[in-house]
Amino acid sequence: MREAYRASLLHCLADPGEEAESSALEYFEDGLLIVEDGVVVEAGDAPTLLAQLSDDTAVTDFSGKIIVPGFIDCHVHFPQLDIIASYGEQLLDWLNRYAYPAEARFADEIYAREIANVFLNELLRNGTTTALVFGTVHAHSADAILEAAESRGMRLIAGKVLMDINCPDELQDTPESAYADSKALIERWHGKDRLGYAITPRFALTSSEEQLAAAGRLANEYPDVWIHTHLAENKAEVEEIARQFPGSRSYLDVYDQFGLLRERSVFAHCLHMDDEDRSCMAAKGGAAAFCPTSNLFLGSGLFNLRAMRAANVRVGLGTDVGGGTSLSLLRTASEAYKVLHLQNQALPATRALYLATLGAAEALYLDDKVGNFEPGKEADFVVLDPAGSSLSERRTRVAASIEEALFAITMLADDRHVAATYIAGTRSVIR
Ligand code: GUN
Ligand code: ZN
Repeated sequence: MREAYRASLLHCLADPGEEAESSALEYFEDGLLIVEDGVVVEAGDAPTLLAQLSDDTAVTDFSGKIIVPGFIDCHVHFPQLDIIASYGEQLLDWLNRYAYPAEARFADEIYAREIANVFLNELLRNGTTTALVFGTVHAHSADAILEAAESRGMRLIAGKVLMDINCPDELQDTPESAYADSKALIERWHGKDRLGYAITPRFALTSSEEQLAAAGRLANEYPDVWIHTHLAENKAEVEEIARQFPGSRSYLDVYDQFGLLRERSVFAHCLHMDDEDRSCMAAKGGAAAFCPTSNLFLGSGLFNLRAMRAANVRVGLGTDVGGGTSLSLLRTASEAYKVLHLQNQALPATRALYLATLGAAEALYLDDKVGNFEPGKEADFVVLDPAGSSLSERRTRVAASIEEALFAITMLADDRHVAATYIAGTRSVIR
């Protein structure tokens, strides 16, 4: 069935860059998005398209609102939902004090399912339609989040965490069980409906060389499965890696040596890297998840977007909850603006939108399916409400352009600014 949505429409065709290139964008102030069977038919000017529309096409009127593509979160931990906003500590102490105890609770399968459902409701409330998600070491954590995504029709990628050293005993697997469990999960989930699987070594500090090698073997056997891990987030972590892997040129090189750097590898953070790492990551098709709320909250450092994009590294935004402090990619984008401002780098609102939509889709190699409103793409979209708060209503009323309005919404936004979230053309009901 054909349906249409009338509102201002904005989407990216490419990276607008620091200069906010207008050729990278398409904007229709009075726009119409036409959807059929969950797929975009056309996005264009409402008066023109309405004149051609057959009488039986239902038109939903969102005039005064802005429709943008569904947001894509390139890095988030669903088991850490309940430790969001936990006081103090940088990465390694934060893991021991908060993250590991929270993840240990996921030994309980029923609890894992409950949190998976709450987590996806929160994503949808914030306009996030796709995410690359860490589970816990327990295989059933991946089942829980993928089942919950399947029941909502979401495009989502997740994986069970691999960790066999330097962490609490109760959270350890082994190289053999990591390989066997991940393989079974790949066979069960990868490519089913809109779901994908990610081989998920937590980070090089918590995997033995045998386990990293097993992960690399699996990555080689399943070239279209994702690889999802952390890289160069915290100075103490980077120093520890240098001690643990004295033969590697850099932290990235550790992953590369074990066959974990390739297309569809996604590395969260990427703060403490050099130009050689950046060119290597770009050449091999790896991607970086820029997680500004986490990087500020855990005192980790500042992401260098200009250097990453100059090297042609694929970059998308990640919330990194529970190290990150919000599941909203709009709030995440507002912190990205500040992180870049501190480094004299610009982040126009349209580029922030790119990093949360098409850029993220490119980072995940999903840009043939989602990320903008090109005909044939899956109709995941968000209806933004400029009047979501009284303050943003006042501020956007005096905005002279869509760029100015979008910037103000991004800086002021929370989930009140998401009026509706559509998954493959269906309005999602928060359960
Ligand atoms: N590095 C290894 N594990 C984690 C984690 O759970 N969160 C963050 N932010 N960094 C990590
Ligand atoms: Zn993380």
